[in-house]
Amino acid sequence: MNRREWLKRTGILGTGLILSNLVSAHTLLFTNRALDFVKEDFGKDFLWGVASSAYQSEGAWNLDNKGESTWDYFSRKKGAIERGENADVAADFYHRYEEDIELIKSMNFKVFRFSISWPRIIPSGTGDVSAKGIKFYHKVIDKCISEGIEPWITLYHWDLPQILEEQGGWANRKIIDWFKEYVEVVSKEYAGKVKNWMVINEQLSFIGNGYMNGIFAPGDKKLGKFMKAVHYSVISQSEGGRIIRKNVPNANVGTTFVTTYVEPINQEKKNIEAAKRMDAIMNRLFIEPCLGLGYPEDTVPMLKKMKKLYEKGDEELMPFDFDFIGVQYYFRTVAQSSIMPGMRAKEITAEQRGVPRNEMNGEIYPEGLYHQLKFFDSYKGIKNLIVTENGTCVPDVLENGRVHDTLRIQYFKDHLAAVLKAKREGVKVSGYFVWSPTDNFEWDKGYRTRFGLVYVDFQTLNRYMKDSGFWFKEFLK
Ligand code: BGC
Repeated sequence: MNRREWLKRTGILGTGLILSNLVSAHTLLFTNRALDFVKEDFGKDFLWGVASSAYQSEGAWNLDNKGESTWDYFSRKKGAIERGENADVAADFYHRYEEDIELIKSMNFKVFRFSISWPRIIPSGTGDVSAKGIKFYHKVIDKCISEGIEPWITLYHWDLPQILEEQGGWANRKIIDWFKEYVEVVSKEYAGKVKNWMVINEQLSFIGNGYMNGIFAPGDKKLGKFMKAVHYSVISQSEGGRIIRKNVPNANVGTTFVTTYVEPINQEKKNIEAAKRMDAIMNRLFIEPCLGLGYPEDTVPMLKKMKKLYEKGDEELMPFDFDFIGVQYYFRTVAQSSIMPGMRAKEITAEQRGVPRNEMNGEIYPEGLYHQLKFFDSYKGIKNLIVTENGTCVPDVLENGRVHDTLRIQYFKDHLAAVLKAKREGVKVSGYFVWSPTDNFEWDKGYRTRFGLVYVDFQTLNRYMKDSGFWFKEFLK
């Protein structure tokens, strides 16, 4: 997925080298095995869910007072999105949420993680609240509850009000107050119905891609903005956690991080060091300040510059004691040393290594999920882990109302085996959410890459359960 492109655009990604020795050096522990576990092996309280986001699925971009988001704006820029697509309609969840929640139920999932669109709730970013926006998410929540599905809310999945971006967005320190205002409104409003909350989805993805390499909204390429956005989002995330704790009785408060398993191309010291630096940016940059450990400047000295952004009291504001950490895993990253300033590391792509990969050229590497669960589990400050996203895009073909996505089924079997292996070794992982219930709008890739358990015909907006959806229905029954 797009962290790969982030590496590429920042010059971390390499060229040319074929690594057949690396491929053979790794035993693919999980691939092509028969299913030798059942749902009950994960334990009776293990949470099974699906995850989606507002911009990618809702559509209705300007209906019922909704304000413009950074993605509404960015997707209209020439060349920003493959084939010039946008999410004006997306999967039309805004009008079809009932059908989609019924589909989630019919696949036997018990949790639906979705995000709230900030500009649908507060169209001008701050100030007036939209009654229609508030009402829409009440309807979604009520439908979940009536179907016996637990609603899990993500407060921010990348669709910032455009009006705030025009004032600097995440690179303006005022974002902390803007975000707090929004979190106050949403958490107070739904406190009586929703107990499970996630503050922010994957800071690295929207900040790296949005402010550093320009492939995500708002399309900036400025190291200075990137650094500011990192710091202000760290504070905003923890402040958001504190607000939910205050407003929602007995809340289960979490947040989510994207993660990748980073390995050196070989055991040469310089490559091992390069992999450590890459790992620090890809995996440690956001979780460590959140745990009170500061930025990983021991490994990436450039991060010492973050201190220039600190104001009095920031060190106390940066951490928050989350009830759970959401781990989102898609692929492995293989690193090699490079002369590039800053990171001094580049990626050797899955394509260059000739290994199995998805439609976005991310390596399919289930063991990586096992390693990353172990990695997060090793932090003393983390109480509970949930895989809040995992899934893949494969070439789906709709034929006579069916999609035979055997590769996706294999992907889930292998990744679930990785989760179970970690759990059996004592890792405190308590849930697994599939990305995503239906096909939706995949950011800069538009509608080309499909992640759903349910196929969406984007012409008619009709839904068709894929074989992977039927597989979960059977596995979870
Ligand atoms: C993001 C999703 C995205 C998925 C697949 C995740 O990192 O949270 O919004 O669709 O990856 O690329």
